[in-house]
Amino acid sequence: MEIKDIKEKSSKYLFQNYGRADLAFESGEGCILHGYDGKDYLDLVAGIAVNALGYAHPDWVSAVQKQAARAAHISNLYLIKEQADLAEKIASVTPGELNRTLFVNSGAEANEAALKTAVRYTGRGKILSALDGFHGRTSASLGATGQEKYRKSFEPLISDSYGYFEFGNCEQVKSMVGKDTAAVLVEPVQGESGVRIASAEFFRTVRDVCSDNGALMICDEVQTGLGRTGQWYGIENYGVVPDMITMAKALGGGLPVGALSSTDEISSVMVPGTHGTTFGGNPMVCAAGCAVIDVMKRDGLIEHSRETGAKWIRDLKMIDSPDIREIRGLGLMIGIEMNSSENALRIQKYCRDNGVLINVCHGSTLRLIPPLILTDAQKDTFTALLKECL
Ligand SMILES: Cc1ncc(COP(=O)(O)O)c(C=O)c1O
Repeated sequence: MEIKDIKEKSSKYLFQNYGRADLAFESGEGCILHGYDGKDYLDLVAGIAVNALGYAHPDWVSAVQKQAARAAHISNLYLIKEQADLAEKIASVTPGELNRTLFVNSGAEANEAALKTAVRYTGRGKILSALDGFHGRTSASLGATGQEKYRKSFEPLISDSYGYFEFGNCEQVKSMVGKDTAAVLVEPVQGESGVRIASAEFFRTVRDVCSDNGALMICDEVQTGLGRTGQWYGIENYGVVPDMITMAKALGGGLPVGALSSTDEISSVMVPGTHGTTFGGNPMVCAAGCAVIDVMKRDGLIEHSRETGAKWIRDLKMIDSPDIREIRGLGLMIGIEMNSSENALRIQKYCRDNGVLINVCHGSTLRLIPPLILTDAQKDTFTALLKECL
């Protein structure tokens, strides 16, 4: 099949809610995607930070195949061995006492579950989150997303329980959190808005002000979680332990699974009947998740992400160009802010024409969120292309 045929069928039968590139891929292996155009692409997008083990990782494929041949789905009406196994593995890598997990199907759903839990636990209704943050497209997660462009046309679905502070602004967050606050929901690194980083002091302030006021600190680790920033969780870069962590993207290694982890005490308010989802944590996605965490541990992918990312940022910072405004990142989550969106798009196209996929987010930032198995040579391929293009 050719790309033009896929495009024609997609235009005819799909909702047109995505701005898609004229590219389609047949398969992948490691960090390489094989296109229907007959070309190979080095993928530095990884399905938007999903394919942490790359494509068709043998351990992941074997786990998924075995589970598919046994039972892909069993209802939460029953005990599910693979779900308990994955929850145990998550508990082995989450900070503090976040030992209990609830499984859902996506990042937005993980945030919904966290917000519902916070409201029940505190008996309060106010949710605070950061401007320019992103938490998903369902009603509550959209409500907590501090970007009007996403919320505007859906306001009737969103309650007025939300308030927004400037990411990184300690004084503002201190002045906003009060006795009516159920939770502060915050990304350790703002991904969709261009890999924006705040200080350790900011996260410590959020922690302290939440504790002082009986509000819960929820870290949205949907994008930053599971090794992306060079730690298991992004918030560990700041030595802060939140009350809840939400995760998704990397967890299933390509299958849709999200999770909320919290403490015994907080999780205890979610009694039978308070929350649930048919597919949440089915044996298939949990077997995939177990393989992801096992491979990350066995192959030292967290350290690899930290070290490769640090070298990459150092190399990129050595590029002397008036077109680059700022380079920032943690681990293999890197943003290169260009001086204009035209230049960002020009570089994206140049890379694509030369077999490398990158993503432009928040207008003018090139975002690098490759599989965590990226090699030094692969990162150097992009650096060389960027220099050439500049
Ligand atoms: C930080 C963050 N939270 C939540 C979401 C929403 O996740 P999902 O698209 O799986 O619902 C995303 C997606 O990009 C994200 O980056």
